[in-house]
Amino acid sequence: MALCTKMFLFLLPFLLCHSMARADTCSDCFTQSRAAYYPNSDQQGTESGACEYGAFGATLNGGDVSAASNLYKNGVGCGACYQVRCTNAKYCSNNGVTIVITDSGASDNTDFILSQHAFSKMGLNADAGASLLSLGVVGIEYRRVSCSYPSKNITFKIDQSSNNPYYFAFQIWYQQGNNDIAAVQLCETENLTCKLLERSHGAVWAVASPPRGALSLRMMLSGGDDGDETWLVPPNDIPQNWTAGALYDSGIQVQ
Ligand SMILES: *[C@@H]1O[C@H](CO)[C@@H](O)[C@H](O)[C@H]1NC(C)=O
Ligand SMILES: *[C@@H]1O[C@H](CO)[C@@H](O)[C@H](O)[C@H]1NC(C)=O
Ligand SMILES: *[C@@H]1O[C@H](CO)[C@@H](O)[C@H](O)[C@H]1NC(C)=O
Repeated sequence: MALCTKMFLFLLPFLLCHSMARADTCSDCFTQSRAAYYPNSDQQGTESGACEYGAFGATLNGGDVSAASNLYKNGVGCGACYQVRCTNAKYCSNNGVTIVITDSGASDNTDFILSQHAFSKMGLNADAGASLLSLGVVGIEYRRVSCSYPSKNITFKIDQSSNNPYYFAFQIWYQQGNNDIAAVQLCETENLTCKLLERSHGAVWAVASPPRGALSLRMMLSGGDDGDETWLVPPNDIPQNWTAGALYDSGIQVQ
């Protein structure tokens, strides 16, 4: 249920808001909800988030990360970016904070459990941020926004559980824009035979007995207006000697 809160406040562009709402994709409008924060003493995110980003998940986006409940979507939501702003005019800034989903979780009817860093950043200033923290759970509104990783290409992180050549598991880091990765194909680079992969858990894709040789990973992003399936084909392959823990630059980025 998207409410065009900001527009209601200013009333003037009411007609625009109305027509967007009728289109049922009020994509720039905010949804009302609630947010809490991780009760740990750590300022940043958690290293044990369900997306399995590990230490990367704690520090990604400057530590402005979050667990999501419905928006986690069995791992499809991992890496998605949302603008979240609290609604208490006394404490809350208009911009709020932009977070990246790294974990799954709910508490007290929340859509987000933010890192403390992100939660206090919703405040007008440091004092207001501290006041927000003392409230614990606050009313918020949120909307999906594009992720932005200037000077990064989409990067394949070979998961620690991988074991060349028996088991190939990986994550896709630094995808810009506001589309989900709907599907991934793994292709061997000799005959270009491809197979569709399964999302294993969290942000991890995996396949047992991967093809020998260098590997090409193709991604299909959701959100094509016309429902067309367009595969993003990175210029860089993953070399034959891929190793657990390694990062490989895909050589491509999306907006
Ligand atoms: C490519 O095809 C040839 C002939 O069918 C086969 O021998 C070879 O193993 C294939 N290469 C890969 C990497 O699957
Ligand atoms: C993998 O192979 C490339 C050449 O294809 C080489 O430059 C690189 O050092 C190798 N990496 C490892 C970890 O063996
Ligand atoms: C991203 O990929 C492009 C094209 O392959 C390459 O020229 C560029 O150096 C890469 N950028 C980074 C930050 O690795």
